[in-house]
Amino acid sequence: MSVKNNISSSSPENLAKAAKNIQAGELVAFPTETVYGLGADATNDKAVARIFEAKGRPSFNPLIVHLPDIDTAKKYVEFDEQAELLATHFWPGALTLVLPRKKECPISRLASAGLDTLAVRIPANPLALDLLKMCDRPLAAPSANPSGQISPTHAQHVADGLRDKVSIILDGGACKIGVESTVVGFSKEGIVLLRPGGVTKEQLEAVCPPVLDAKPESEITSPGMLLSHYAPSCPVRLNANDKTEGEAFLGFGRDYEAISTINLSIPGDLTEATANLFSALHLLDEEGYTSIAVAPIPNMGLGVAINDRLKRAAAPRN
Ligand code: TXA
Ligand code: MG
Repeated sequence: MSVKNNISSSSPENLAKAAKNIQAGELVAFPTETVYGLGADATNDKAVARIFEAKGRPSFNPLIVHLPDIDTAKKYVEFDEQAELLATHFWPGALTLVLPRKKECPISRLASAGLDTLAVRIPANPLALDLLKMCDRPLAAPSANPSGQISPTHAQHVADGLRDKVSIILDGGACKIGVESTVVGFSKEGIVLLRPGGVTKEQLEAVCPPVLDAKPESEITSPGMLLSHYAPSCPVRLNANDKTEGEAFLGFGRDYEAISTINLSIPGDLTEATANLFSALHLLDEEGYTSIAVAPIPNMGLGVAINDRLKRAAAPRN
């Protein structure tokens, strides 16, 4: 069901109001190039707690802190050579770095779920950057959806999922990339891929090799990588080549043009498919299908992030 409620255009007045709300400890949803974020002042414990409450998010799952520039990031976390290289190359952009908190770091402990590390990124969206500068606060912001459900790539998705739990939803149109940022940690052996996302492993390897896959038993893990996540209300069936009665078909490529209810990209373009993924799942979820069958997606480049999200959407629900 669609509700218009508190969606606001990106006018200077609305931006100023959103910045004021952040300073007053309220929640503001804002667009980034990946997905919409549910933002709060990261230095305000109560405001951060409101994020967990609004999303129904387990408190052991730490949040990403958004900052306007590298110099500001350096006030909160320790950068080594590798981190500096990645930040210079990919920021602003869809890359989150998990780095040691500085000793006197004023960011709420709740935002980093009690860990000694903090996840930080600079978003590449002009509206997000304007908000960060105007409110003059680091913004803790997970994706603006109820925990475990599909991430929002349009302001309306946020309104449908969170309704009046957010003071204002700044409308920045569709998110350009459409999946969350790539999350990386650091080890002596190389950088560790904690969550595949908008920056591909190949891109990271070209700048700072080697890039290691996170092992479940490894020291650095991403507590948020729960198996069931990004889930529509109906079941999801992967690597399907056909659909059964009552099922929707999410296609990819020309082979599936005829049977697709929605095709993520007819020419088989992974960037286009990524941008369409969450919108397609939101739409199919509203239509009352018995399940959603999904065509195979090549597991390379952005396809790795798409397959990661689809695998979690298809996982048994907890
Ligand atoms: O694109 C994105 O990253 C979006 C937009 C709004 O920026 N945000 C987002 O946040 O996806 P969220 O909270 O849904 O995902 C944060 C991820 C989780 O997998 C979490 O476990 C991981 O980052 N994370 C956060 N802090 C961490 C830390 N200190 N150590 C390891 N993983 C961390
Ligand atoms: Mg999320």
